[in-house]
Amino acid sequence: MAVATRAPLIAGNWKMHGTLDDSAELVSMLKKVVARPKDAQMLLCPPFTYLMAVRKWLKESNILLGAQNLSHQPDLGAYTGEVHGSMLKDVGCSFVIIGHSERRQFYGETDDLVAQKFQVAQAAGLTPILCIGETLEQHEKGKTESVVVGQMLAVLKTVGVAAFSNAVIAYEPVWAIGTGRTATPGQAQKVHALIRATISKHDATISSALRILYGGSVKSDNAKVLLSMDDIDGGLVGGASLKAEEFAAIFQAALN
Ligand code: 13P
Repeated sequence: MAVATRAPLIAGNWKMHGTLDDSAELVSMLKKVVARPKDAQMLLCPPFTYLMAVRKWLKESNILLGAQNLSHQPDLGAYTGEVHGSMLKDVGCSFVIIGHSERRQFYGETDDLVAQKFQVAQAAGLTPILCIGETLEQHEKGKTESVVVGQMLAVLKTVGVAAFSNAVIAYEPVWAIGTGRTATPGQAQKVHALIRATISKHDATISSALRILYGGSVKSDNAKVLLSMDDIDGGLVGGASLKAEEFAAIFQAALN
């Protein structure tokens, strides 16, 4: 679990799911859970189209709002279909997920593009949640560590270590996403420790304050043990974040 300077962050990535009505119900149930927040933060990342509505529903709650993606363009302009970081900020987002494996896999996002998104997110006043993680094939070939470090260094060389003082990293092994197959707490901890050590080589203070989330089939029944690991500071939750009771239970697991 997070050390004192690293408040646990439980983030729900809704992906491309739900309707406006589903979202309203989910938010109203979650608001009851987080009525009196202790030492953990809850973050919801709905699809773009629901951000405004969710922001309104979240008024006077302590739940944070984030987006799932943003344009890499540094300036506003004629970029059909894109959403600029300043627009996300404008509708109340404080975080944005970048480099999710689904974007790398289905939309061809490269490390370079992810690094650009990291920079424009911060320029807009958003905290990037940088997703990294190996595929099943890489995992089975024993390449987990080299892949994860490679993805980090690719961003680090562009943005510099100081940028990580206002960022979150999410380790999401691709083989664990939506599969019901979770990394064991030991496996996850090992990679999280490696991520922290990689940043530590550049700046130990930034590294010790950096929140590193685990993502990949986090559920109410495995959250507690995952969150109890030294370098796991929260979760990036997909499927289970769409069920109020499940997500609430994961959040509760982060509180004690
Ligand atoms: P699941 O929790 O559905 O495995 O998804 C994880 C994820 O991709 C969060 O970004």
